[in-house]
Amino acid sequence: MFLNIKGRKIFCVPFFIHNRERINMFTVNRRVKEMLGSTTLAITARAKELAAQGHDVVNFGAGEPDFDTPDFIKKAGIEAINKGMTKYTPSIGTPDLREAIALKFQQENNLPYKANQVVVSCGAKHSLFNIIQVLVDDGDEVIFQSPYWVSYPEMVKAAGGKSVIITTDAASQFKITPEALTKHITPKTKILIINSPSNPTGVMYTKEELTAIAAICVKHKIYVISDEIYEKLVYDNIQMCSIASLGKEIFDLTITVNGVSKAYAMTGWRIGYAAGPVEIMEYIKKYQDHSTSNPTSISQAAAVAALKADSASIEAMVKVFRTRRDLMLSCLDKIAKVSYIHPSGAFYVFCDFAKVGDGAMIAKRMLDEVKVAGIPGDSFGAPSFIRFSFATSEERIVEGIKRVGEWVSKNS
Ligand SMILES: Cc1ncc(COP(=O)(O)O)c(C=O)c1O
Repeated sequence: MFLNIKGRKIFCVPFFIHNRERINMFTVNRRVKEMLGSTTLAITARAKELAAQGHDVVNFGAGEPDFDTPDFIKKAGIEAINKGMTKYTPSIGTPDLREAIALKFQQENNLPYKANQVVVSCGAKHSLFNIIQVLVDDGDEVIFQSPYWVSYPEMVKAAGGKSVIITTDAASQFKITPEALTKHITPKTKILIINSPSNPTGVMYTKEELTAIAAICVKHKIYVISDEIYEKLVYDNIQMCSIASLGKEIFDLTITVNGVSKAYAMTGWRIGYAAGPVEIMEYIKKYQDHSTSNPTSISQAAAVAALKADSASIEAMVKVFRTRRDLMLSCLDKIAKVSYIHPSGAFYVFCDFAKVGDGAMIAKRMLDEVKVAGIPGDSFGAPSFIRFSFATSEERIVEGIKRVGEWVSKNS
């Protein structure tokens, strides 16, 4: 296109062509494009919006303890600020914290990790993301069960891998059986993710069940990611077992993930950690070096205090959670059309609404009509379910489940 400027013909590229090229250039990464948003965060945001408008919302959406971080931990954070611990730390965490984590693993989980096998990250979610990005290559298969924690499939997608989901049900006590695992293994299988206690079901694997699963992973040389973030929140007499503690061969194939978020009511402090074979942890270090660097220095100091303390604060919280769990279950028992998976750990009850309708539709309508927020099961791979968190007061549990019962009898 030529423009006539002061008698001279000047060649110009029309603006709209530039613009169109710019628009065409604005494409996002194919893997990121396929990632789903977080329903948990969306429902929580909607519940908060309704509450801000003055509605009396019962929020069963929470994915975090409603307790405050214990004072001694806060104090350690404040002291860290006052002592000037406000600078970069080693990318993988301070030596102090990594030593405390290695000691915790040795003493509590019978896992002989050394500090040089530990990487501290910005929450267990970050640890899991790092591990999956480091281990999974294009087309590699990652096995986990449904119901599953919402972020596993999205992390696998981000790495270019393929999620292979084992659907569990009441017959298998919502756990992966050795038979089901064997059936889903292919030459492309790279990782098995185990999450015990589980979010969203609260189900826990016994030592015997994990022993059988470990034997299969060792036979087929499959890595295991053991997500143990709810380790401390256990209510029945099931002994928490770390799969990596079941022998040298499975230890060498496992990356164990944990953190301080749930056990110490420290979700906002963002400290999680992973431990595994040195060669893998070296790559995770490299990945973290070039992405986030170290997790917050102040939070790391607070996490050291948390891990070195006795278990009094955890025990007090678990006692309250156990009472609330039993209360929520007894309230749910009165709603004939709704069944649930018995949670032995974590702080959720995963409720089956199959006799009433689709979980996503019911969750949306219950929030709009009776102002009860629960997380629809489709985001956990179980569309007829809704997850109710009992990280709220006894009074709200009674009120909320009463509303659920009334809604169900009116709509079924
Ligand atoms: C199963 C599971 N794993 C990992 C996490 C991540 O915890 P955080 O990043 O707060 O340490 C969560 C949080 O909800 C979870 O439910």
